[in-house]
Amino acid sequence: VALVIYGSSSNRGSLYLSLTDSPNSIRKRNINGDAEVQIAQENIQLEKSVGLIGGVSIIVGTVIGSGIFISPKGVLEKTGSVGLSLIVWTVSGMLALMGALCYAELGTLIRKSGGEYIYIKTAFGDIPAFLFAWTSVIVIRTSSIAIICLTFAEYMGTFFPFCGPAVIPTKLVAAAIIVTLMVINCYSTSLASKTQIFFTGAKLLALAIIVVGGIVRLCQGHITELTDSFKGTASSASSIALAFYDALWAYDGWNNLNYITEELENPKKNLPRANIFGVLLVTVVYVMTNISYLTAMTSAELLASSAVAVTWGERVLGVAAIILPLAVLCSTFGAANGSMFTGGRVVYAAGREGHLPELLSFIQCKRRTPLPSLVFTTVISLLMIIPGDVGSLVDFFSFTAWIFYGSTVAALLFLRWKMRDAERIFTVPIVIPILFVLIAIYLVIGPIVESPKIEFLYALIFVVGGLVFYFPFVYFKLLPNCLDGVTIFFQLFWEIVPSAYEPD
Ligand code: ARG
Repeated sequence: VALVIYGSSSNRGSLYLSLTDSPNSIRKRNINGDAEVQIAQENIQLEKSVGLIGGVSIIVGTVIGSGIFISPKGVLEKTGSVGLSLIVWTVSGMLALMGALCYAELGTLIRKSGGEYIYIKTAFGDIPAFLFAWTSVIVIRTSSIAIICLTFAEYMGTFFPFCGPAVIPTKLVAAAIIVTLMVINCYSTSLASKTQIFFTGAKLLALAIIVVGGIVRLCQGHITELTDSFKGTASSASSIALAFYDALWAYDGWNNLNYITEELENPKKNLPRANIFGVLLVTVVYVMTNISYLTAMTSAELLASSAVAVTWGERVLGVAAIILPLAVLCSTFGAANGSMFTGGRVVYAAGREGHLPELLSFIQCKRRTPLPSLVFTTVISLLMIIPGDVGSLVDFFSFTAWIFYGSTVAALLFLRWKMRDAERIFTVPIVIPILFVLIAIYLVIGPIVESPKIEFLYALIFVVGGLVFYFPFVYFKLLPNCLDGVTIFFQLFWEIVPSAYEPD
């Protein structure tokens, strides 16, 4: 079967394939000219297929990834005491909750997909929004997918000895997982959402086992580590700040539902509910899990363990300990799925606003999934795996991510004034965003002042370096002509069409 291009029409400055007047149709026929099928109709959009449970799963299932199984060690080491480490875990949860509340206000005020990108664009205009999209698409999102999938692959080592830290087979497994997730997400949004719900359930079950095991052990009187718990508390502010970075990585992802607002059923109600409920649930689970770890080992043992959850399982579950590495696999797989799902939407949103090639905002007309943006996210995540040293990826991730969390909540404050007459369904008390912005500034500036590392400078240069692309390609639209050919090629190859959404 050969594809025949009938002609093209121009819309929003670029070419689409179309035979009818509608830009949203692609026609195909075989070489004999018969059996013509029109494969797309008007108004192709992403479906609203995520309900409340799906929304909570996106939050809980993306937030709970590798962190809770690994970070407790770092937090304990940097805070120096059990008491302070539990405080850091609780305060980090509160910070995530503050963020989630602010994002609930933003997401119900501006009900478009794309998260930070769309809020920064509405408040501060094109250039900061472009810099966010550029950084998010190239670094933030893709490094987080790479980190989570590398952790998945390292835990495969429990079952298959050829996997271990930073070796070629590990990277290959991580790459295979990324591609699998891409296929799931391109196949259908509802399959991706079901996968998310399933793995969220699995990881909550595993954590419930740890929490209940901990409660039982508490009742049996294993409380030595929890008494006199502030002994040895660190006094250096920078070391405490670094402890926060470790815990905040475990909480990261609280903002994810805002990327897919348009695919939520009844976003006005479900977005705030899922944000608040999801983050609260995670906070309770995290604090209880940390307590449970300490009922089964001393802090010295916790610091010596390379995978706390697995050590916990060996101590408490005996032969059933095997379920813990399995739980880490489920947890990281689900988190990576959530990141792929929502991360693709930033590319999609930026593509349709003209900040990235428009092709990236097209939708597969049969499956109704944003196929090009998912493929794009996948390719860059795969590239991230190549150098992929998890430690350096995490540092880079947190620093740039908090620049944008801070800017987004600053956008909320600015929009209180700029869109003062707009209908607000959900409003947070003004102290919350103010406090959040101050903390974000501290989290970004703190590490630079305390221990200036050249990586932070590289990160900043990278963010601002986006302007090198912005001016020629976005502002002056100096696009090479061959781009239309590429667009047409992929339209036919993937059967993708522009989404029915009109930018304002
Ligand atoms: N909190 C997750 C973990 O503990 C990492 C989330 C990464 N961020 C994201 N937006 N996907 O593994």
